[in-house]
Amino acid sequence: MNLLGKRILLIVSGGIAAYKALELVRLLRGAGCGVTCVLSRAAGHFVTPLSLQALSESRVYTDLFSLTDESEMGHIQLSRAADLLVVAPASADLLARMATGLADDLAATVLLATDKPVLVAPAMNVRMWQHPATVANMATLAARGVQVVGPDEGAMACNEFGPGRLAEPPAILAAITALLAPAPGPLAGKHALVTSGPTHEPIDPVRYIANRSSGRQGNAIAAALAALGARVTLVRGPVTVPDPAGVTVVRVETAQQMLDACLDALPADIAVCAAAVADWRVASAASGKIKKSPGAPPPMLDLVPNPDILALLSAPRPDRPRLVVGFAAETDALDENAAAKRLRKGCDWIVANDVSPATGIMGGEDNTVHLVTAAGIEDWPRLPKTEVAQRLAARIAATLA
Ligand code: CTP
Repeated sequence: MNLLGKRILLIVSGGIAAYKALELVRLLRGAGCGVTCVLSRAAGHFVTPLSLQALSESRVYTDLFSLTDESEMGHIQLSRAADLLVVAPASADLLARMATGLADDLAATVLLATDKPVLVAPAMNVRMWQHPATVANMATLAARGVQVVGPDEGAMACNEFGPGRLAEPPAILAAITALLAPAPGPLAGKHALVTSGPTHEPIDPVRYIANRSSGRQGNAIAAALAALGARVTLVRGPVTVPDPAGVTVVRVETAQQMLDACLDALPADIAVCAAAVADWRVASAASGKIKKSPGAPPPMLDLVPNPDILALLSAPRPDRPRLVVGFAAETDALDENAAAKRLRKGCDWIVANDVSPATGIMGGEDNTVHLVTAAGIEDWPRLPKTEVAQRLAARIAATLA
């Protein structure tokens, strides 16, 4: 993977994590990239232009209305002279301005004027990240093809815990490399469809049926397949874990939307159904909030089955993916149930896991899986979900080779 000679326009916005931009510049320079930095109007409170200039060995731009800058390199040219625009850290404010199309400082203006790919590395307080405004802004940006790396989950400078920490500079460098110099990889030229997360089935406008799936395993599989060179479409239900970089993400809420998005994504060479799709939905969700009335019995929910996405993708059809992999979340008789499920659904492999509460797998970081194929059952050791994903992706690549 070679970044030699690539040109990065690094836009640094305001936030405690801005100091990590210095390390990112150092890594990029070490990889042979040319780096030009632009500071948003708030970034100068957290990191100095002089440090960025020293590390990038290049002029740092801050001012939209600088005659000197405009005569040297106008903002339009600045935004087009790069191979990739990277926003790190990307504050909630700058992401909102990007989503709205504002051009009220140099950073926002170059982002609006560019015709080059854009990668953002969000960093903010967990509540700001989870605020519906930020969620909507991220969806808008994703729909426009903006790539995202992170944020990571962990302790934050504001003494809170959750997603919102800037991805570490090596992870940002990896995302940049994946975009600018993707390795050919054993799955190059292959299209992989991955489902991930839970689905939400509405009862009324404020209530829904859901489950505890975090989306971690499915997202990790999407990232692992992309790392091996596959073009990946990730269809994912509502989750808080970050979307992996370098994959096309389709965000859905319900099982029916997930099925529609999967069928739209075909043809695919590989399908991995890791989503915990709700088996049932309410026959007709109420259009207004269901109210309690004193003395009245609780409402009855009339449930109807959801389409089985895995079974539909596995069924013989001209565009059936060559390899269809399902998951089986079981609490009893894991191997027998998983082997029966493989035959019932018609998929090629089943990744079976024991989701009894004592295992901590549902929503946790690790997974203990059994791979059920036509040849038999393999027991894999307990591994972080990222390693389960890498092992599965390597197995898929070897099978399709
Ligand atoms: N699945 C799907 N669409 C559904 C239900 C499940 O695509 N409507 C997929 C899941 O993504 C997973 C596999 O089917 O890959 C197994 O799902 P699971 O819920 O464990 O199995 P079920 O068939 O629902 O059987 P049971 O609930 O009886 O265990």
